[in-house]
Formats: sequence, structure tokens, C-alpha cells
Amino acid sequence: MAWRIMNSDTVVTAKSGKEYLLKKHSAVGLHWALRHLDEQIYKDPWEYRPTRFTVGEEENRGVPWSWMPFSGGTHKCSGYSLAILEIPVVMAYMLREVSPWLLDAAWTSPSPSSLPCSQLALAV
Ligand code: HEM
Repeated sequence: MAWRIMNSDTVVTAKSGKEYLLKKHSAVGLHWALRHLDEQIYKDPWEYRPTRFTVGEEENRGVPWSWMPFSGGTHKCSGYSLAILEIPVVMAYMLREVSPWLLDAAWTSPSPSSLPCSQLALAV
């Protein structure tokens, strides 16, 4: 979630044409999942399909701000470069220590509203 404090009264217009007044000093939060799970950008967004980002075939090609795991702008994650280095190292350590397997091979797409941790598909 990216939070920002409005520094002036600002009117924003939604796609629907409806206008919203964001008052000075109010907190405005944007949850990136809303963008990352937008069916107008990603086909079957709840399906785990990393190939949707294959170079040259990106589903979100040409759609600005459609993939922002580290946010953007002035307050973008300042640990981005470190995280990009750490992620493969952590994954390598984890996969060396544990042997994950799918609990149910048919399990692909959770209901967005019910994803309790106890039902995660991977077991270790
Ligand atoms: C997978 C790893 C990580 C992800 C997905 C991630 C993601 C994010 C996101 C979404 C924000 C919010 C930016 C905003 O408000 O718009 C953020 C902020 C921040 N992150 Fe990360 N982060 C990761 C790792 C790290 C690491 C390793 C560090 C430091 C060692 C770090 C330091 C920070 C700091 C200091 C901010 C606040 C930046 C600011 O408000 O100016 N992050 N991160």
C-alpha cells in the first residue's frame, strides 16, 4: 500500500467520469494489488503464470504503472536494488533446505476473498 498525504485540495476524475475531492492533509492510499489484479490489464490475474511477463510478450505492455511491486516516484522502495540481489539468494537458500510440493495439483486459482494462510498450496 502506498500512502501519501495531500498537500493541497485536489479534484481527481475517475474513469467513470465521477469526480472526487481529496482534501489537503488527508491520507490517500493506493493498494498495488488493485492494479496487479486488474482484469483489463492481466488475463486471469489470479492464475500463477509468470510467463505473462516473458520479454516481448508482456500482457501489460504499454500500460503505465501496471506493475509496481516496489512502488514508484520519489518514495519508491529505496531497498529495491538490494532486494533484487537478495531475492535469488534467499530463494536458493530456501530451496536448498526444503522440498516444496503442491498439495493439490488442480489448485490454481484461489477465491480473491478467501485466502487463509492455512490453505496455501505449497507444503514444505
Ligand atoms: C521484495 C522486497 C521488497 C519489496 C517488494 C519492497 C516494496 C516496497 C514498497 C511497495 C514500498 C512503498 C513505497 C511507497 O510508499 O510508494 C517500499 C518502501 C521502502 N522500502 Fe522496500 N521493498 C522491498 C525490500 C526492501 C529492502 C531490502 C529495503 C532496505 C534494505 C527496503 C527499504 C524501503 C524503504 C526505506 C522504503 C521507504 C521509502 C520512502 O518512503 O521514501 N525495502 N518498499
